[in-house]
Amino acid sequence: MEKIMPILNDVKNALAFLCRGELKEFMFRLRVYTSKIDLRYASVDELGLSADRSHHYAHSGGVYLEKVLNSLNITAGDAIVDFGSGKGGALITFAKYPFNKISGVELLPELVTIAEQNFKKLNISNVTMTVSDAADFTDLDAYNYFYFYSPFPRSVMVDVIHNIESSLQKKPRPLRLIYCNPEFHDLIEKDSGFHKTAEFYHHQLHHLIYVYSRTP
Ligand SMILES: C[S@@+](CC[C@H](N)C(=O)[O-])C[C@H]1O[C@@H](n2cnc3c(N)ncnc32)[C@H](O)[C@@H]1O
Repeated sequence: MEKIMPILNDVKNALAFLCRGELKEFMFRLRVYTSKIDLRYASVDELGLSADRSHHYAHSGGVYLEKVLNSLNITAGDAIVDFGSGKGGALITFAKYPFNKISGVELLPELVTIAEQNFKKLNISNVTMTVSDAADFTDLDAYNYFYFYSPFPRSVMVDVIHNIESSLQKKPRPLRLIYCNPEFHDLIEKDSGFHKTAEFYHHQLHHLIYVYSRTP
């Protein structure tokens, strides 16, 4: 029963999208089931994470994230990193776009293993993942898009924004930041040169998604 309940819940959630006429999100979820992809939620406790440095795992991929990306005219000149990439939900969505580089940074090696198994099942081969605390991942010069879905507390976010700032000083370039559930919006706008340029809503997660831009 313990094993069946999460599956029944997933089926119920997917069918709810069909009932609401959201065929694309239903199809995305169907693809997740039929390919036996694991994108299931896991709490901080289940993951053995410290609440001082980390939030839970949940995924933000699918049609609502696609709506954001569709508005951005992504080309092969773009490269994106997902800070706190978990089992790869958002990265699976990024892989549908012509980014020349797609990377994930994740604290937990076991989530990176699950993400890599997910990519294999979906024949996705252009995503790389690094096991690291996001604050220690400073190799940012190759990227012009940065993605966050509520991955960690403010103190870690401060360090990551500082690293982006340092990268920009080394290599001036236009940057974009996509932030799902922008709980530290004040930090992004006040302490860095980013300005909010667009706003979306993730109807499944019930979160806002903000897009910010910054010119050198
Ligand atoms: C809410 S999930 C987002 C998953 C993915 N970005 C998505 O949108 O589908 C947050 C992820 O951040 C990871 N995480 C938490 N703290 C971290 C840290 N300090 N450095 C790197 N990853 C972290 C968690 O393990 C979890 O997988």
